Amino acid sequence: MTITYADRIPNNVDLGGDKLLQRALEHWQPEFLKWWTDMGPEDSHTADVYLRTAVSVHPSGWAHFDYVKMPDYRWGIFLAPGDGERKVNFGDHKGEPVWQDVPGEHRANLRRIIVTQGDTEPASVEQQRHLGLTCPSQYDLRNLFQVNVEEGRHLWAMVYLLHRYFGRDGREEAEALLQRRSGDRDNPRILGAFNERTPDWLAFFMFTYFTDRDGKFQLLALAESGFDPLARTTRFMLMEEAHHMYVGEAGVGRVIQRTCEVMLEHKTDDPDRLRALGVIDLPTVQRYLNFHFSVTIDLFGADVSSNAATFYSSGLKGRYGETKYGDDHILRDAMYPVLQVIDGRLAAGEAPALNALNEKLRDDYIKDTVAGVGRWNRIIHKLGIPCELTVPHKAFNRKIGPLAGLRLSPDGRIVSEAEWSARQRDWLATDEDRAFVASLMGRVATPGAYANWISPPTLAINKQPADFEFVRFN
Ligand SMILES: [Fe+2]
Ligand SMILES: [Fe+2]
Repeated sequence: MTITYADRIPNNVDLGGDKLLQRALEHWQPEFLKWWTDMGPEDSHTADVYLRTAVSVHPSGWAHFDYVKMPDYRWGIFLAPGDGERKVNFGDHKGEPVWQDVPGEHRANLRRIIVTQGDTEPASVEQQRHLGLTCPSQYDLRNLFQVNVEEGRHLWAMVYLLHRYFGRDGREEAEALLQRRSGDRDNPRILGAFNERTPDWLAFFMFTYFTDRDGKFQLLALAESGFDPLARTTRFMLMEEAHHMYVGEAGVGRVIQRTCEVMLEHKTDDPDRLRALGVIDLPTVQRYLNFHFSVTIDLFGADVSSNAATFYSSGLKGRYGETKYGDDHILRDAMYPVLQVIDGRLAAGEAPALNALNEKLRDDYIKDTVAGVGRWNRIIHKLGIPCELTVPHKAFNRKIGPLAGLRLSPDGRIVSEAEWSARQRDWLATDEDRAFVASLMGRVATPGAYANWISPPTLAINKQPADFEFVRFN
């Protein structure tokens, strides 16, 4: 299918051939722009930003780089190419052709899945809206804005599905996606982590590393869906998502690099001295990491969940890498290990694999996460510093599921309420930590200049030189 990029809404879904749908989306578009103006990146609307825009789904050339004013960004609707032969790969409908329309009996569940995914996209834009004011460089500012416009496009991707396949209910849900607000007491975003603040750039990098990676795993599970339009749209979203996680991984890596350089230069690992030297000490990095990891793994939901079983058996949401498994893809007789709390102790347990699919996806996510933390440690070790960042135990600081409320140290030891109160400030970013990090945040916006607390990047954007003018402020 050709891309009608000249249309108001760039797309490869033949919007022009469905006037009713096109009108519905054109009606939603000004509402979206109003939301972007009110809740999108602060003080950004007149700048020309060197951004990537999705213009096709071709793996080798799907994006176009140029200066664009963000309110003029072309948020398009792109589905990865369909395969006419594709079958449902799992659950009770395994082997049947995938659905091009929503099966009536799965309508409510599918809508819920799409709305929950869709809600995270504008939420993160809201969470990040003040960060541009304290960017450590033009390069980072551009990356923030890139992530923001692409989360906006992901919202469009979900709204397209709602409008196209869910009639009036879908249109109402699409409106509600623009009405909820991250952190709002009366009308918050749906999931916990998307109501937390992202107040500083260390939090932003941690968020894009940990929480956008949750996005990756959710999208990978939805890319297996028997509802083909959902599978195809999420497959294309994953192309953009990779950059978001890169921003996070490289960002934290550059913070670590800079801190380690100052540690070597001044022969000190004393957090107070390092703070006085204007860099973020590694224990503070570890406390941020502990916070973002624990809040993010809650996003996968309860360890044992009948919804997860239903979503799988109905063919709506598969496992990460579904087709790579050699099992029956029905899972009715299989078991999966889960942690249990027995008399206040953690114990190994088992649950029916179908009900434990959230836990399985969480475990896959944790594996991926640990690998990246290992890459951060390599930066530290390369500079000869005997220090290591670690990923906390998966029961640490949980708020969802049977592990919620358990008092546990990051290394997985059950602790008393008294020890928790006394040690919590060693384990999770404190108000003082956040105030210190905030004190470092000051806008650096001269091309090629970087804030003192972060190293320059090692990888260019679209092969542009390091002192490239990524943002023209006008
Ligand atoms: Fe997204
Ligand atoms: Fe993302």
